[in-house]
Amino acid sequence: AYLNKIRKYSVSSNKCAAFVFDIDGVLIRGKQVLEPAKKALLELYKSNRYPIAFLTNGGGCTEAEKAEQLSEWFHLPIQPDQIVLSHSPLREISTQYNDNGLAVVCVGRGHPDVVAYSCGFRYVIPIEEIGRLEPTATPFCDYEKVPRNTNWQREALDYPVGGILVLSDSTDWGRDIQIICDILLSRSCLVFSKQFDVKLYFTNPDFLWANEFPFPRFGQGAFRLALESIYQQLTGKPLPYIQYGKPCTVQYRFMENLLRKQALSKGYTDLEVIYAIGDNPAADIRGARNAGRPWIPILVRTGCFSSEDGDNDPRDPADYVFQDVNEAVKTLVQRE
Ligand code: G3P
Ligand code: MG
Repeated sequence: AYLNKIRKYSVSSNKCAAFVFDIDGVLIRGKQVLEPAKKALLELYKSNRYPIAFLTNGGGCTEAEKAEQLSEWFHLPIQPDQIVLSHSPLREISTQYNDNGLAVVCVGRGHPDVVAYSCGFRYVIPIEEIGRLEPTATPFCDYEKVPRNTNWQREALDYPVGGILVLSDSTDWGRDIQIICDILLSRSCLVFSKQFDVKLYFTNPDFLWANEFPFPRFGQGAFRLALESIYQQLTGKPLPYIQYGKPCTVQYRFMENLLRKQALSKGYTDLEVIYAIGDNPAADIRGARNAGRPWIPILVRTGCFSSEDGDNDPRDPADYVFQDVNEAVKTLVQRE
């Protein structure tokens, strides 16, 4: 019955099936590349029939850097336009900041300056550079140990701040919560010139995610909860924010555009189904479900959801559950 259900999605001649892979908990665990992922990707690449892409709530690097990393891990030619990172859809709002001469304060691990510039933002202020220039604002931080944002252009401080972008996981919750609250409360003693109707963006709502540690780890969603709680305590009001990242539909629409280009370049007219393979029911399964047709949510047991978690997730049930990504791909390809 399980396989018959899949059959109903089999592709018609001019439309194609596409495969979208989550990264953490499906292809890798921390620094460890999962064996089933190597097999699955190799088979799909060899067949050369399907658009293939990667949709992750991870970030902290550019799409080009992630493509290089994936290519090395899997020994396959993976391109930047096959990848949607947590921050990728923010490029759609960068011109509205640039055109109005507004700067953005960016938060996150890796090199937030490079990531924000790569999204098209012109006036970029990394939050740790505010801290470095105003050390008494965060008295417990040792800025000697904080890596420098070497691409950062200081003249951004002359522009009014219009947005705060949490691009990836905060590396210092205390520092970042303090400075974000200062900005949201318009404390004008900070180093930049002015601020103007500041909007706060998060790019990854994951409360938990899976690395090589035996139990899931706190993600950017947990950081947001901590900030929300402190902001509420401080002001008596709920924290206003805008959310990007899976399961938000904006991520899926952005990905569909990339997949459609791949489908056209392979000679298809459109996408018949998009198999979204993930390990986190609250992100990957809910997201693909909410995105609607042609997305099909598929859950594997190699990350947040595990072998001990029963037949399916009770809150966000997937259409299909497989042991790992290789079993998923093999079964789905056979049914096509
Ligand atoms: O920080 C990354 C994590 O929250 C999720 O990554 O690839 O499972 O969407 P991924
Ligand atoms: Mg995952």
